[in-house]
Amino acid sequence: MDTVKPLPELEVVNMTKRFGNLVALDRVTMKVKPGTVHALLGENGAGKSTLVKCIMGFYQPTKGEVVIDKRSRQIDSPRDAHKYGIGMVYQHFTSVPAMTVAENLVLSRYDQTNFIDWKQESEHLTEFMAASPFQVPLDVPVAQLAAGQKQKLEILKQIYLQSRILILDEPTSVLTPQEADEVLGLLRKEVAAGKLSILLISHKFREVMAFSDEISVLRKGRLAGNGLVEDLKISDLAEMMMGEKREFPKIEKIVTSYGKPVLQIKNVCANQDNGLPAVKSISLTVNSGEIVGIAGISGNGQKELLEVLSGQRLATSGEILVNGEIYRATREEMFRHQVFSLPEEPLRNACVPNMSVAENMALRTFDRPPQSQGGFLISGAIRNAAKKLIKTFSVHTLSPETPIANLSGGNIQRAVLARELSSEKIELLIAANPCFGLDFGAVDFIHRSIIEARNRGVAVLLVSEDLDELMKLCDRIFVISEGKLVYESAIAEADLNIIGQRMAGL
Ligand SMILES: Nc1ncnc2c1ncn2[C@@H]1O[C@H](COP(=O)(O)OP(=O)(O)OP(=O)(O)O)[C@@H](O)[C@H]1O
Ligand SMILES: [Mg+2]
Repeated sequence: MDTVKPLPELEVVNMTKRFGNLVALDRVTMKVKPGTVHALLGENGAGKSTLVKCIMGFYQPTKGEVVIDKRSRQIDSPRDAHKYGIGMVYQHFTSVPAMTVAENLVLSRYDQTNFIDWKQESEHLTEFMAASPFQVPLDVPVAQLAAGQKQKLEILKQIYLQSRILILDEPTSVLTPQEADEVLGLLRKEVAAGKLSILLISHKFREVMAFSDEISVLRKGRLAGNGLVEDLKISDLAEMMMGEKREFPKIEKIVTSYGKPVLQIKNVCANQDNGLPAVKSISLTVNSGEIVGIAGISGNGQKELLEVLSGQRLATSGEILVNGEIYRATREEMFRHQVFSLPEEPLRNACVPNMSVAENMALRTFDRPPQSQGGFLISGAIRNAAKKLIKTFSVHTLSPETPIANLSGGNIQRAVLARELSSEKIELLIAANPCFGLDFGAVDFIHRSIIEARNRGVAVLLVSEDLDELMKLCDRIFVISEGKLVYESAIAEADLNIIGQRMAGL
């Protein structure tokens, strides 16, 4: 790797970006000094992704410029950005699932010729992987990688492309705390060695304080503050992000005597895509009015279990009962038993990206009155219902007609949550990492909504990689490791040390 060439200096000067009437960025100026980690903070919708997409040539700024090594540059595409040594890891995965890690790396290159000498490439890749800050198996299809490994691959891709300034948009939302520390620690070493500069978007104060040198904060599209990490406290950052001090009153769990069993999972087994067992005879019950958590490091069968519960994967044996009846997660059964879910990566798993916010919010109910009558969709009813939800769940969107894919990551999450939690009759909620990528105000809101649902008697199954979240919300907690439940405890008696050991397979 070329360490002799000095790292480029990246500045954004007076950048403004409008989408129609919406001002997503308003005269933002900031500088990423060579050989530093610069963190970019801000609430959901503050403009962080828009700023970096303007740098990458993905969007054209309405006004202002990108300055690299003191010269204003025209960047029309990510390919142009790459010419200046800038590479980005996006909030969503970009690798091709059916291809192997090696194929994805080779195909990511910009200097592609039609002919690929696989023998030579494979030697080269093995060398590259050995010298990389972290490793991912080269010959495995990306579809079989756990979320954490996929994210590592996205970062490795940029190092493989010899990017000198790495832009990371919430790179650790899919990593466990240990994985996140590992990845950021290793990248930090590359920065210290003068090989990289990093612009890091993150919602996690702990990470930002531990791994960055300098911080800029955006609020509603404007630069709200900036400074060196050693001069800033977390409370300063929170205030810059929110504008004023906001209090989050604690929400109390109402003590309930356990209700009836709503979800019963009985000896369920399921395979991965490659036919190997992923879920190995799991049994658990979730009663009405309780939150049952499953902790575990990603890739230990959670994904497959959730897919079985949502009808996207067939169990190889065992059965699932909801309200005492066999349940296969058909649309009709979901409606009859009022089962709702908050899946991971909601834009991909729970939305139709090109449809509007209102239409996406209606996906559950569009074929029933008042939104549909005699086979006709009543667009006024759909719009009104959406307007209400947008207000109650504070979804930041230009209008109900905006395509949902245009919303910021956190606001997509809120829109899906609004749809899933708004039904009055909801009986069972299945949530997977529901706070992935959300700012702390939104996290509080979602935690509150889940506890309120529980207090109303909803049975909640919460699968999460965030132990703090589980300890805060759950009434009972399990640990999943290699497809089996290896720990169970009421939350009051749960032992964090043992949970950590069980998660690590000890
Ligand atoms: N292509 C687009 N068309 C219309 N509006 C957009 C588009 N992209 C972003 N916006 C709007 O610009 C604002 C800033 O969004 P952005 O994605 O930059 O936020 P963010 O700070 O990255 O938030 P998050 O933490 O939720 O990812 C939001 O109000 C969003 O709805
Ligand atoms: Mg974003």
